Amino acid sequence: MLTPRFPIRAKLIASFSVVIIVGVFISTMIGINLIGSTIIKQAQEKVRLDLNSAREVYLGESEIIRTKVRLTAERFFIKEAVAINDTERLRRELRAIREEEGLDILTLTDNQGRIMVRAHNPEVYGDRPIDHVIDHVLTSGESVVATVIVSEDELAKIGDDYLKRARITLIPTPKSRPLNITEERQGMFIKAGAPVFDYAGKLIGVLYGGNMLNRNYGIVDKVKNTVYLGEMYKDRDIGTATIFLDDARISTNVLNIDGERAIGTRVSEEVYEQVVVDGEPWVGRAFVVNAWYMTAYEPIRNIDGKIIGMLYVGMLEAPYIDLRNKVVVTFWGIAIISVLLLSVIAYYTTSNIVRPVKALARATEKVAHGDMSQRVDINTHDEIGFLGESFNQMTVALQEATDGYQSLTRTLEQKVAEKTKELQAAQDFLIQSEKMASLGKLAAGVAHEINNPLTSILINSHLILEKFKGDATLKDNLKLIIDETTRCSSIVNGLLEFARQTPPEKTVVDINRIIESTLIIMETQALVHKVRIKKDLAGDLPQIQIDVNKIKQVFTNLILNALDAMSDGGTLTILSRLSSGGDCVEVKFHDTGKGIPKDNISKIFDPFFSTKGTKGTGLGLSISYGIIQQHNGKIDVQSEVGKGTTITVCLPLFEFKKDKKEENSG
Ligand SMILES: Nc1ncnc2c1ncn2[C@@H]1O[C@H](COP(=O)(O)OP(=O)(O)OP(=O)(O)O)[C@@H](O)[C@H]1O
Ligand SMILES: [Mg+2]
Repeated sequence: MLTPRFPIRAKLIASFSVVIIVGVFISTMIGINLIGSTIIKQAQEKVRLDLNSAREVYLGESEIIRTKVRLTAERFFIKEAVAINDTERLRRELRAIREEEGLDILTLTDNQGRIMVRAHNPEVYGDRPIDHVIDHVLTSGESVVATVIVSEDELAKIGDDYLKRARITLIPTPKSRPLNITEERQGMFIKAGAPVFDYAGKLIGVLYGGNMLNRNYGIVDKVKNTVYLGEMYKDRDIGTATIFLDDARISTNVLNIDGERAIGTRVSEEVYEQVVVDGEPWVGRAFVVNAWYMTAYEPIRNIDGKIIGMLYVGMLEAPYIDLRNKVVVTFWGIAIISVLLLSVIAYYTTSNIVRPVKALARATEKVAHGDMSQRVDINTHDEIGFLGESFNQMTVALQEATDGYQSLTRTLEQKVAEKTKELQAAQDFLIQSEKMASLGKLAAGVAHEINNPLTSILINSHLILEKFKGDATLKDNLKLIIDETTRCSSIVNGLLEFARQTPPEKTVVDINRIIESTLIIMETQALVHKVRIKKDLAGDLPQIQIDVNKIKQVFTNLILNALDAMSDGGTLTILSRLSSGGDCVEVKFHDTGKGIPKDNISKIFDPFFSTKGTKGTGLGLSISYGIIQQHNGKIDVQSEVGKGTTITVCLPLFEFKKDKKEENSG
């Protein structure tokens, strides 16, 4: 059977799978989009808020410094020591306060802004730094806090350790703006200033203090720990914060590849342009040092409003991306499981469709090759079951039609054969009858003319012989004349017999009795020929109407011929039975003699055909033929050279009406 190129099952599974895959693809797309638009947007929103929190931390820190400085400026020892110019006390006290309050710098100036005491570096004093915080306090008489840039020179005055701490090697990143300096040497400070008044309320000086932000991680770590609660994701801090001086990280908890704080690395030019140059905050994805973050940047301004750096917070993007990937993987996992499940279900459901369809296809193919016995066994109560039923009905109808057609063909063939045979027989019969008729006339004329002279020759010859007393040789010749004339006479009688065709005198008899009585006469002859006679006579044959003498003559002829054929002995079987058609009684004479050559078979019924020379007249069978013909019967011969001959005589059954008619017409 042909295997189909696109089986139904494959088609069904494929189309369902396509539906699932397309569905999952669309859902995935929607899912990713949803995550993008909600979760990631939320994350961005969160980072924006986180930046606010970070700013609060930053401002809080600033405020603390301002409070520390303000409260210190109000203390009495300063008023008293300044009044009597007790620098020694001022140095001692301020140093203690600086250490106690954890300030990097704590410095006192006079009412002109000249340095009186540097708590950290008391040796250097008397200079007047260019400092907007001092100026602001001197002019306003109020405390202030601000982020400021402190130059290298000024740092040197604070102390070498600060100079060193401030120094940061700049590390360019691929996206950072081009810059020709390789080191940051300035310091960024949160610096607070407060006025110092004497007891009369006169401004006698300015106290300022603050902390340097370079490599100071207090603020950024506080942001990390308060805003992001120090949460980690795969060994990384989720939240990070950074303070930039210009575009370089001077305080950060973003780590580099070595796991160290990425101090000195620089921000991308894009962010720098937007935040530092344009003064706009930045919120968005950014590649920070070595990973993607959701980031927010805002400018840090100095006391004059000039942008000097940036405050940054960032959240690792990885948890969100992983979440999105998880969603995608989950969706596709569901898709694959669905396709597998569907394939299994489809396999079983389609089996119920495919199996009967296959069975139908196989059966149809066999029917096409002529096997009408095909039936399919489909028990489903659906369209296919209905189809199977119709198929079975169709094959039943087809088979009936074919059977009918075949038997019709067979009967036709049979009938044609029978008719042909009948025709042949009729033709043979006609030919034979024709021959007989013409020969009969001739023979009758000749016999009539010859019979009288022969009779007188015979009578006279006998008379002569009776009275002859002479030469023995002449006497023998005379006997020969008598013999030959007798023979002539018997030929003529035979001819007359053949030609005469006197109407048969029929009586109703049992054919077996006729056979028996013929045999009584023939038995001695058979003994002489060393022929055994076997009888096979059917018991309950219907009676037939025949001319007993004539039929006896026929049987005698046939037996004599058989004996002649078995010169070295043999068996003659005589059989009687009802014919297969039931319309006549058959008598068969079967001998084991020499048989008749094929060429002779058509001639044996001809008058004078004989292979026996002077011993035979060749009239036996032709006379017999004539007699059987008179009885509306048939005589038939079958023979094989060397094996034997069977002559079959067929005599019709006695029919009363038919017989009556014949009698009337005869
Ligand atoms: N049973 C038979 N076996 C072999 N040949 C036969 C048999 N019956 C007839 N024939 C052949 O048919 C020929 C014709 O037979 P048919 O009886 O007419 O004449 P015949 O026997 O030769 O002469 P007649 O009957 O006058 O003595 C025979 O000469 C013989 O050759
Ligand atoms: Mg004969």
